[in-house]
Amino acid sequence: MATHKLRRLPGDPSRDELIARMIRVDQAGEYGAVRIYQGQRAILGKSKSEPELAKMEEAERRHLATFDKLMVERRVRPTLLQPLWHLAGFALGAGTALLGEKAAMACTAAVEEVIEDHYANQAARLAGEGEDRLVAEIEEARKGEVEHRDAALAAGAREAPAYATLTAAIKAGSRLAIWLSERI
Ligand SMILES: [Fe+2]
Ligand SMILES: [Fe+2]
Repeated sequence: MATHKLRRLPGDPSRDELIARMIRVDQAGEYGAVRIYQGQRAILGKSKSEPELAKMEEAERRHLATFDKLMVERRVRPTLLQPLWHLAGFALGAGTALLGEKAAMACTAAVEEVIEDHYANQAARLAGEGEDRLVAEIEEARKGEVEHRDAALAAGAREAPAYATLTAAIKAGSRLAIWLSERI
């Protein structure tokens, strides 16, 4: 018997709308991720972190291309908050980079932890819903985020100034960005 994880209550959005929301928020997140690394590289472009940051940005561009394509194929509109993520992503990247290379890595570790969780959740909700390709794309992106988180931790994220506070603030901001991008 099929499981119905996308089961709804009367008045809830349709299955297609739920999936559209998933693609919309994922595309917004990957867009924001590219902007974070652009912000970090604007400040740390000549530091020893540059090759790692460039590699991460490249991966985010691949994730973004995946969700851009899904959006076109499935006629999903982008979030209306894209201009906000354009600015906020860059500001978060540049702001943490100004605190130093370790803070930039702490930013990545915090964001990726939230995103990994988010993707795992989506994959679980979609399992058994006949959305194998979407699940595979989400899973592929999730693996990339895990690599970024591990690389950031290995690069000394935990040694950043005010690590706990910084991390908590960035995670809260990331969760809010997800919540908003699913709805607006
Ligand atoms: Fe990504
Ligand atoms: Fe990432």
